[in-house]
Amino acid sequence: MRRHIIAGNWKMNMLLEDAVALATGVAQNTKELGGVDLVVAPAMLAVAPVAKALKDAGFTHLKVATQNMHTVPTKGAYTGEVSAQMLKDAGCDFVILGHSERRQYFGETDAGVNHKAKVALAHGLTPIICIGETLAEREAERTFDRIEFQVRAALAGIDDKNLPALVLAYEPIWAIGTGKTASPEQAQEVHAFIRSILSKLAGDEIAQQVRIQYGGSVKPANISDLISQPDIDGALVGGASLKVSDFVSLAVSSNA
Ligand code: PGA
Repeated sequence: MRRHIIAGNWKMNMLLEDAVALATGVAQNTKELGGVDLVVAPAMLAVAPVAKALKDAGFTHLKVATQNMHTVPTKGAYTGEVSAQMLKDAGCDFVILGHSERRQYFGETDAGVNHKAKVALAHGLTPIICIGETLAEREAERTFDRIEFQVRAALAGIDDKNLPALVLAYEPIWAIGTGKTASPEQAQEVHAFIRSILSKLAGDEIAQQVRIQYGGSVKPANISDLISQPDIDGALVGGASLKVSDFVSLAVSSNA
């Protein structure tokens, strides 16, 4: 019932020519897959050329995201920032919000993520909202408290009926870029917990419609075990999204 969704977070990688080649290579090799949603999130400068290249080549199945946006939806005196309206104008349909690297290095807060999620939904962008515990929190058995806090904070004040229009990404911080993946059982346990919070917030029917991605060292070798878990609906992928063959393999394994 929930379509799988694989999103590539390119972070601060790829010059323009490589970015366009990567996106079009992925699109070319996934165009026959009808059972999975696919998204790439280039660095901000590459978003418009990537979206244009995909459009010009007639690829509509590969969507484009950014890795952040500002809370003010249109324009204004906010040096260095980019608005939801600008993202739509550039051909974006998704926006990654609250990635742990943004929280850690750029002071992104739960309140800011919540504000941005509301702006994204109001302006036709699908937010992919990242949450996840640190290694210290996991070792102190605070994972569930932390996740519950982040989910409730991220979704505060969002209408129940809008929840199925957003995507959550559970990304244990200790698994990001470390080569350490959460085991399928560890990930499933947290995903089921997240869905139980959604049930409390909005009821079972809505909770069952919200897609929850796993992120953290996802690669072709481990995607099948992760995606076969009942509450894992896709993946947010960093390193393995930077190679056409790896990303295509993730997409093929997730195609239902
Ligand atoms: P990784 O990054 O796949 O390189 O671990 C995941 C992410 O940060 O979204």
